[in-house]
Amino acid sequence: MSVTAVVGLQWGDEAKGKIVDLLTDQHEVVCRYLGGNNAGHTVMFGGKTYKLSLLPAGILRPGVTSVISNGVVINPKALLMELNTVRSQGVEPGRLLISDRAHVIFPYHLVEEAGLEKARGESPIGTTMRGIGTCYRDKIGRTHAIRLGDLYRPELFRQRLEEVVPQKRLVIQAMDPTADIPSAEEISQEYLHYAEQLREYVCDTTAYLHRILKDGKSLLFEGAQGSLLDIDHGTFPYVTSSNSSGCGIHPGSGVPERAIDRMIGVVKAYTTRVGGGPCPTELFDETGNHIREEGHEYGTVTGRPRRCGWFDAVATSYGARISGVDCIAVMLLDVLSKLDEVKICEAYEIHGERTTDFPSHLEDLAQARPVYRTLPGWKKDITGVRRLQDFPREARAYLDTVSELLESPVSFISIGPDREQTVIL
Ligand code: IMP
Repeated sequence: MSVTAVVGLQWGDEAKGKIVDLLTDQHEVVCRYLGGNNAGHTVMFGGKTYKLSLLPAGILRPGVTSVISNGVVINPKALLMELNTVRSQGVEPGRLLISDRAHVIFPYHLVEEAGLEKARGESPIGTTMRGIGTCYRDKIGRTHAIRLGDLYRPELFRQRLEEVVPQKRLVIQAMDPTADIPSAEEISQEYLHYAEQLREYVCDTTAYLHRILKDGKSLLFEGAQGSLLDIDHGTFPYVTSSNSSGCGIHPGSGVPERAIDRMIGVVKAYTTRVGGGPCPTELFDETGNHIREEGHEYGTVTGRPRRCGWFDAVATSYGARISGVDCIAVMLLDVLSKLDEVKICEAYEIHGERTTDFPSHLEDLAQARPVYRTLPGWKKDITGVRRLQDFPREARAYLDTVSELLESPVSFISIGPDREQTVIL
């Protein structure tokens, strides 16, 4: 297999980082193609824990080339800080390439996002406040967009900021007259400084990716967020602002979908969600708290407690169909080990009707009552299991049910944070 993609099928935080890290050994190039420093990937490597946000997991391997392609939005300050953090942990980053087509997050994007979230009153999206949505907003709107490549044409860049900043200030201060936006001059000085530090990495990554594919090199696409947060197919408007399902790979990298040999969908053995929006299987009881504590379900980026619930096969199989997965990786199965019984939502009841279709309208999703299949718990520590046949019968039944409802074979089972705590089928 030369081109593999790893995507989340739920609302993000499926522990994709671990699968990406495992597969990185078998690939020469790893590409992150969407989102920005809203994502959080935890990778345990050589006895250390690395928290990556913008950098692809390949950065931890000297022989691997890491690509941040055109679909990513870049906060250069955050990116430089992350590179420094990785270095301070004793890792000399592998080769890094960043697309000159990637759009840039500026300070006004963060201020604008705060204003927009406030404008939603009682129902904020609950964003990560990293300026992601407002940067993508400018990308689609074009008039106020600035790409990384523009920073290497200083005259043009200053001129763009002179036009853009006063207009952004007007829009933002219409929402909040007290909003403080740095001047075009201040921003250009700061960002030209970042640009110099990033110069060695910035290039046309689309041409690079096309070249390596022609040369038959192996490529791994590293997804961020999850399919249900996809701007087109997710639980709009409680989504992120890019195509975070498998659909985002082509626009976000310039590599056509037909080049992908294997699409791996990553799921947690249960459901979590951060931010607003309906989550039909969310648990508000002791079991929900138990899953949160056992799974350490607190955001990598924002530290927010994650909303936890039973595995939702209606939502997740929709994510699998949108992304077109060949197989699935079931993560954090060990988190459920102490429960007497485990539940999987196999259908919704909406306005009295049973359905396995994932509703397109938020109001219908908010009305959805989960119909559960209840299975016995396995009540055994499974963190030491290394072969499928060594799992307790009940745990295997759980995995079989997930596979049946998602209509996909299970290819990876994760039962702990270490690389060794993975059963590969
Ligand atoms: P934004 O991406 O910061 O605009 O946030 C939009 C929504 O996506 C919010 O509900 C966030 O909590 C969620 N979100 C963004 N990135 C992640 C992630 O990496 N994991 C889980 N949720 C995320």
